[in-house]
Amino acid sequence: MWLRRSLAAVMLAAGLASTALADLPVERCLNFGNALDAPFEGAWGPAITEHDLDWIAGAGFDTLRLPVRFGSHWKDGIWPGFLARVEQVISQAQSRGLTVILDLHHFDELMSDPDAHAETFVAIWTELADHFEGYDERLIFELLNEPRGALTTARVMELYQTVMPIIRRKHPERWIILGGGHMNSLDEMLSMPAMGPRIALSFHYYDPMPFTHQQSHWTDEYYPASRWGRPEERAIARAAIARAARPDMPVFLGEFGVVREADGVSRNAWIETVRKAAEDAGIGWCYWAYGAGFDLRDFSGYEWHPGLYRALME
Ligand code: GLC
Repeated sequence: MWLRRSLAAVMLAAGLASTALADLPVERCLNFGNALDAPFEGAWGPAITEHDLDWIAGAGFDTLRLPVRFGSHWKDGIWPGFLARVEQVISQAQSRGLTVILDLHHFDELMSDPDAHAETFVAIWTELADHFEGYDERLIFELLNEPRGALTTARVMELYQTVMPIIRRKHPERWIILGGGHMNSLDEMLSMPAMGPRIALSFHYYDPMPFTHQQSHWTDEYYPASRWGRPEERAIARAAIARAARPDMPVFLGEFGVVREADGVSRNAWIETVRKAAEDAGIGWCYWAYGAGFDLRDFSGYEWHPGLYRALME
């Protein structure tokens, strides 16, 4: 990322600033998964505490991606108590110096029947745009996590084109993150058209799924224990991430991670390889997740899992 930043500085000095591509102001981000994106906070794991936010800010992350299940906290408007809770977490995170990516997560109804739920999607973002008017630039909107099924890239682009002007009326300068179909796949992201200023395109990277999601009981298919880290495996991951960088748009690696069940040496190797490949390509990244089975830390104590700090942060 600093590479692109220094290029921007050179261009600025040469009076070419208007042609420089602004960077998404996110470098090292952590997803707080399975909290506000669960059916209710606490259903899939502990609720978010100020202690968690202290730990995350202290660990050196600059940004928190906050997945939120607005779709099922909606009845003619976002449930006021739920929105107040989301706002509380945003301000607690921001008061610790973290930028927050507010991500509309698990809107499953919209995926299976886009026509029936498009209106709610627009209404949610209209309300959020009103509610967060005046927030500073440390709040970023991510319009929808992992479109899939009937919600193809073409169909989700139509939804984005409907809500963007509504959001831009009150947030002309705010960074907005958009992702494509097939669960924010890399290829779908590459197929998206270039868009206006202060928009970044997101993709998620979990390849190979049988390694990153091994031994988990919540995946569609059960994957047995496996290891990772042969030179050709590392080369595949590095090439994929390098391919993601677009010359015409800022790109964001919004999720990547390995379940805690995986063998530690392989897990750290995958995380370090993908993270460094993103940094080499000038792409900000966001690890999935603080907990949620992809844990960074030991929740009976305060420590990082062995070797993970080095893999992710050094
Ligand atoms: C996506 C899903 C989330 C899952 C994660 C890792 O973000 O929405 O539920 O835990 O990917 O598979």
